[in-house]
Amino acid sequence: MNYRHAYHAGNFADVMKHAVLALVLASLKRKETPFFALDTHAGIGAYDLASVAADKTGEYLGGIARVLAAPDPPAELVAYLDLVRAWNRDGTLRWYPGSPEVARTLMRPQDRLALVELHPEDVEDLRRRLGGDRRVGIHHMDGYTAAKGLLPPPERRGLVLMDPPFEARDELSRLVRALAGVARRWPTGIVLAWYPIKGRAAVEGFHAAVKAAGGRETLAAELLIHPDDDPFRLNGSGLLIVNPPWRLDEALAELLPWLARTLAPGRGGHRLERLIAPRSGACASP
Ligand SMILES: C[S@@+](CC[C@H](N)C(=O)[O-])C[C@H]1O[C@@H](n2cnc3c(N)ncnc32)[C@H](O)[C@@H]1O
Repeated sequence: MNYRHAYHAGNFADVMKHAVLALVLASLKRKETPFFALDTHAGIGAYDLASVAADKTGEYLGGIARVLAAPDPPAELVAYLDLVRAWNRDGTLRWYPGSPEVARTLMRPQDRLALVELHPEDVEDLRRRLGGDRRVGIHHMDGYTAAKGLLPPPERRGLVLMDPPFEARDELSRLVRALAGVARRWPTGIVLAWYPIKGRAAVEGFHAAVKAAGGRETLAAELLIHPDDDPFRLNGSGLLIVNPPWRLDEALAELLPWLARTLAPGRGGHRLERLIAPRSGACASP
């Protein structure tokens, strides 16, 4: 386990992932009934952008720093940007909230969050940071295994975020199997699954496997910061969204082009594809 998210915190991929997470949480809050959120690969919760790791790559400069400085962000980004600003009240960008803090900040007293992290140091950081919140459970184990034990939740509504580090060569296949497992246990749960975009062929193979596995309505939202013709470079960031909340597709159609223009002017792009159509009469859990 060599991956440390501190090197990448606040980069373009985090911006897209956390902005969409914030939109999904907002949808879940349209109903008073509690929801459950499971973060299968949680990281340490929040990141110091002045740390040696973040400073070494400077990836956040091409991500959250650029987005915060841009004029006229779309309405779809406001909740996420407000959240990041709240972490940096003096106006200097230093702290970046990871997915656990995005979820914890946006959830309500009646909601519940389970965080899973396998790295022994990272899980200790998580415990120090979020362990005192009685709404939050922290689990030191494999994220995919945890999903088997924690789903379906008694709340019966909510989301799963799967954000593996892609250190394993077969991570995309593991993700396809994990998605199928979640769908069996909790067919109405919303799932956000992150994937890297290197060469287009690998992404097409992944999408084909997801379609072949069948299942509920699934969107693929992608943000490209380079053309996807170099399989050895991270060209973009993708999110599969299973059981997307009502009108999330419309929100993404506003958000993605703005992010592409802002983060990679002249070279970036975006894609929004419905990989699996909704069943007639079906509706997602929010
Ligand atoms: C991309 S980072 C997560 C970032 C976080 N979701 C966020 O958005 O702030 C992936 C995390 O997964 C952890 N990890 C690696 N293998 C894991 C596994 N099998 N189960 C759970 N966590 C794992 C890594 O230690 C790392 O912290």
